[in-house]
Amino acid sequence: MSASPNPRFLSPASLIFVIVFFAVPAAALWQATLQFRTNLVLVPVYAVLFFRGILPLASGWLFKAFLCVLAWALGARAWIHVIAGGTLLNCLVPREAYFVISVCFAALLGLALLLVLRDGLNLLWKLVRLKLKAILWPANSFWATLALAFAATIPALLGTANGFADPQYTEVSVRLPGLDPKFDGFKIAFLSDTHINQISDYSQVAAYVDEVNLWKPDLAVFTGDLQDGTPDEVGRTVALLGKIEARLGAYACQGNHELYWNYPQWRSFYGQRGITFLDDAAVTIKDEAGAPVLTLTGLEDLATPEQARATLAKRDPALPSVTLAHRPGHAADIDGLTDLVLSGHTHGGLIPGVAQLVAAANQGFVAGRYDLPRGTALLVSRGVSMWMGVPLRLLDPSEIIFITLHPAPPKGK
Ligand SMILES: [Fe+2]
Repeated sequence: MSASPNPRFLSPASLIFVIVFFAVPAAALWQATLQFRTNLVLVPVYAVLFFRGILPLASGWLFKAFLCVLAWALGARAWIHVIAGGTLLNCLVPREAYFVISVCFAALLGLALLLVLRDGLNLLWKLVRLKLKAILWPANSFWATLALAFAATIPALLGTANGFADPQYTEVSVRLPGLDPKFDGFKIAFLSDTHINQISDYSQVAAYVDEVNLWKPDLAVFTGDLQDGTPDEVGRTVALLGKIEARLGAYACQGNHELYWNYPQWRSFYGQRGITFLDDAAVTIKDEAGAPVLTLTGLEDLATPEQARATLAKRDPALPSVTLAHRPGHAADIDGLTDLVLSGHTHGGLIPGVAQLVAAANQGFVAGRYDLPRGTALLVSRGVSMWMGVPLRLLDPSEIIFITLHPAPPKGK
């Protein structure tokens, strides 16, 4: 691997190389994207890895060919649903294998990003030095590129480990206007985006269900994306959610993933286990003596602003109002019509930098509490788990939120 300063990119050998090790697998990747558009992200990623990572290396074609095969193999997650069966939402691979596959995949994405940054820095360096041959980080050095690969692997490993980790428990106090003082301390267990699928660890789910039960909630709510898979595939683990014991019941709203998996079938599965879905519907939560505590409303995932407002019109205006809406953007449509909106969907943004993009796609909401202009409070959960497409969390722990309600004076008083 002696460094040659001027590798030939346009030789017949390099053309054959590009066709065999880039174009053919890229065509296969394109096939995979027909099933899952998410795989499209791999097209620019592989283009950068091949053309800016491997091709410029001052090493033999055989070694470069080996690196190409390795890169395609490490990115095998794109075809895993084709190779192993299942879908990208719910692959049929063991949890441990999926962990390794996910680390490799994230490291490849990270390496592509670092290669782009390296090229940008080199370009800047040429401009600063006013010298065409000035280079800060060489593209033809195997060892310099390997150092970038290591730099990409560390956050990939940490992020994936966090993605697979147990949820943490976040305690939040909310003052709810009009809450009867006798319900001061009312407890709501708030779970979002549990995304139970075939790699979910049964004992991990059982452990957080136990933890929720130890807290003795008065009410349990789920704000969508509860599972990925069919009842046959994931029903045993999903049934654990029905073991959450909340004194006054358990309710849920639709997420986008509910719409991917025979929603009517799952709705009745949950219903049989004590979890009621509120599809643009309202219910009054009453204590054992029949005293009303609050109105709970649930929005459908694709509810229009008009639909959302019509749902809120169903609530008892004399009672405090809590709304379940999977996408936090819905909160802006019903600001002032409800006291508290509980949402998920964003998974907390997953990675610094990406979180800002996720926020932008969700009307600025990504994680934590927001106080909206007309008095509605919005609480966005980071989610209990992850879907298989993006099992990566950096500085973004998954969570279950324990909400304790306290009375606040009714609005306008
Ligand atoms: Fe979602």
